[in-house]
Amino acid sequence: MAAEPVNLNEFQELARLALPKMYYDFYAGGAEDEHTLKENVEAFHRITFRSRILVDVSRIDLSTTILDYKISAPIIIAPTALHKLANPEGEVATARAAASCNTIMVLSFTSSSSIEEVAASSNAVRFYQLYVFKKRDITATLVQRAERNGFKALVLTADTPRLGRREADIKNKMITPPLKNLEGLLSTKVSSDTGSNFEADANETMDASLSWKDLEWLRSITNLPILIKGILTREDAIKAVEVGVAGIIVSNHGARQLDYSPATISALEEVVHAVKGRVPILMDGGVRRGTDVFKALALGAQAVLIGRPVVYGLAAKGEYGVRRVIEMLKDEFELTMALTGCPSVKHITRKHVRTEQERIH
Ligand code: FNR
Repeated sequence: MAAEPVNLNEFQELARLALPKMYYDFYAGGAEDEHTLKENVEAFHRITFRSRILVDVSRIDLSTTILDYKISAPIIIAPTALHKLANPEGEVATARAAASCNTIMVLSFTSSSSIEEVAASSNAVRFYQLYVFKKRDITATLVQRAERNGFKALVLTADTPRLGRREADIKNKMITPPLKNLEGLLSTKVSSDTGSNFEADANETMDASLSWKDLEWLRSITNLPILIKGILTREDAIKAVEVGVAGIIVSNHGARQLDYSPATISALEEVVHAVKGRVPILMDGGVRRGTDVFKALALGAQAVLIGRPVVYGLAAKGEYGVRRVIEMLKDEFELTMALTGCPSVKHITRKHVRTEQERIH
């Protein structure tokens, strides 16, 4: 058994050692120069704390409520593709870890375990992430299956009209297995011999014409609350509130779509100010430490989602690894709350952090 990691970054190294290069690169990589990939992490480093002392922190309550679901900490599992490339149990192991940590798992549209398998494997609160296909009836079928299998919300990923240029996948000629949930639904097999077949498949099937008016269609086929993932500007945040979404996820898709998009932690406040508390705001991208979770909450997020660290945990140590990743982040977050003088998440305020701009003035 590999050494016991003491932080999330160490899980990344264990995953690198455990996985074939092609799969590790698929999980770790970002778009083009990977500028945003580095920034997602580094922008957190530029935020410092304004801790308060002599607050009674003998008891710390990390719990929070997202869309009426009480979870043990504001840390949720982001939708990431193809968990069976990391571990043969795939998303089933991830869902079990989510259940034992009492948090929410967002199942990716491009999962390698089926909606039904994941639903049967645990009692975790599950949301279903959606890409909209050119053939709308395929999307409608998947939405119905998610609803029937007890998923509690839809997460519409809206930053992917086309797939970003992930050069590691192109170089490795990354081959993805057929997607479990689409078995029997696609009439043709799309493939490419010029690089990443993931890219070719996605661009053949995903609907690049999807626009705000289609939210009405989506709402007409489901009663589930809909969150939009991929918002980075005040303009889109206001639009999302206007069309009646139940929540917003500030995200740049883990820097896998448009390089030189801002780090999500830098874009968060613009969205928070525009939304003015009308819907909950979540964020993801670069969260690797409990201090990052705290910073996101101080800048107005209700919770964060974590992507890569979950697949690294899964690759390194299966279900146990995912659990450890979440537990470690929770422990670090709890310590941050104690050392900043915040006995519960409600005590975390904008005044507990200082951004780079604030230091200049
Ligand atoms: C993703 N992400 C993603 N998002 C989505 O909406 N549907 C998906 O299928 C995937 N797949 C996916 C695969 C892999 C390997 C990664 C790394 C990411 C994006 C994901 O939900 C999330 O936005 C980021 O991963 C968050 O950034 P960190 O935590 O990975 O830095």
